[in-house]
Amino acid sequence: VRSLRLVGQHVQKQQSREMSSSSGPQRKVAVLGAAGGIGQPLGLLMKLNPLVTHLSLYDIAGTPGVAADISHCNTPAEVSGYAGDADLGKALEGADIVIIPAGVPRKPGMTRDDLFKINAGIVKSLCAAISQHCPEALVAMISNPVNSTVPIAAEVFKKAGTYDPRKLFGVTTLDVVRARTFYAAKKGLNVRDVDVPVVGGHAGITILPLFSQATPKKSLEGEELDALTKRTQDGGTEVVQAKAGKGSATLSMAYAGALFAEACLKGLNGQKGVIECTYVQSSIIPELPFFSSKVRLGPNGVEEIMGLGQITEYESKALEAMKSELASSIQKGVDFVHQS
Ligand code: NAD
Ligand code: LMR
Repeated sequence: VRSLRLVGQHVQKQQSREMSSSSGPQRKVAVLGAAGGIGQPLGLLMKLNPLVTHLSLYDIAGTPGVAADISHCNTPAEVSGYAGDADLGKALEGADIVIIPAGVPRKPGMTRDDLFKINAGIVKSLCAAISQHCPEALVAMISNPVNSTVPIAAEVFKKAGTYDPRKLFGVTTLDVVRARTFYAAKKGLNVRDVDVPVVGGHAGITILPLFSQATPKKSLEGEELDALTKRTQDGGTEVVQAKAGKGSATLSMAYAGALFAEACLKGLNGQKGVIECTYVQSSIIPELPFFSSKVRLGPNGVEEIMGLGQITEYESKALEAMKSELASSIQKGVDFVHQS
């Protein structure tokens, strides 16, 4: 009886998925860097998402195989794979959301900023193509250093006359995912019930989890608070070291990227109350033109940038401490586009 019930539930879910994708709007999601460590599981998760009707997988090589593989999953999204520069326009044409995990990852001993030399150029050329082929799309930047690659994208779009700050995002969801996981484990909470806003940027001390605003609220102070804050800030390095030269977070990043893309899709489709932490053009900290905070998403991308709320003295000091690093990473991205 139980297995029949499970089959019934499966069929019901399948039917509601088909209904929602056939009755909902057509949504094309493009992944650039789709044959990589993040790109492959992210492509798979987007193929499983009922809000996606067309999944476009682009990389410099290897994408036809990834696309053929993912396309065999019996979910409605149509899948196409594109490899190489000549196909980039086709990959982007008509995209509602472009997710960018293209570029090199860290090895032990490197900072995210050490990736700038290679990834800045990759992001710049991909964004130039976006402004040409799908200037209206929401762009979700995963490639590091996010603190600089997002300003690079903004400058490229400005030069092309296509910049809409409501549509450009640095994906910082993995910081939120980590903060939730570590807080729930430390406080013995069900991780599904937990939320922790994370603000600032996406590198070391620029990542600031606001545990004072975590829900459900539990007391957290002194060494325990320090340890949890530091573990969230160093989460990426923890994975880089554990992988010992074989790259950085890929699976948890794909999960986080899929959560963020789903939030964007819900916003585009007019769903109310979609709130995510993300790194966007912002004026909440006047000296930091890009800053991650809670943002309300809607049909035009960012509908509202929410304030920081009440922060503690501990958090306020950490915010002060990050300012000069984040400001110079932003400027480095801006300068790169103007000098190259
Ligand atoms: P990877 O090397 O496994 O994959 C990167 C892919 O990008 C490769 O398949 C490569 O062929 C492709 N690529 C390179 N140049 C390209 C171009 N011009 N056009 C299209 N594709 C191109 O690396 P990964 O582990 O998937 O990481 C990718 C990036 O994501 C890194 O910069 C990493 O630091 C970053 N990252 C960010 C976060 C975050 O929280 N924002 C988390 C994890 C990793
Ligand atoms: C992460 O936070 O896991 C990513 O930014 C990858 C990295 O280099 O740490």
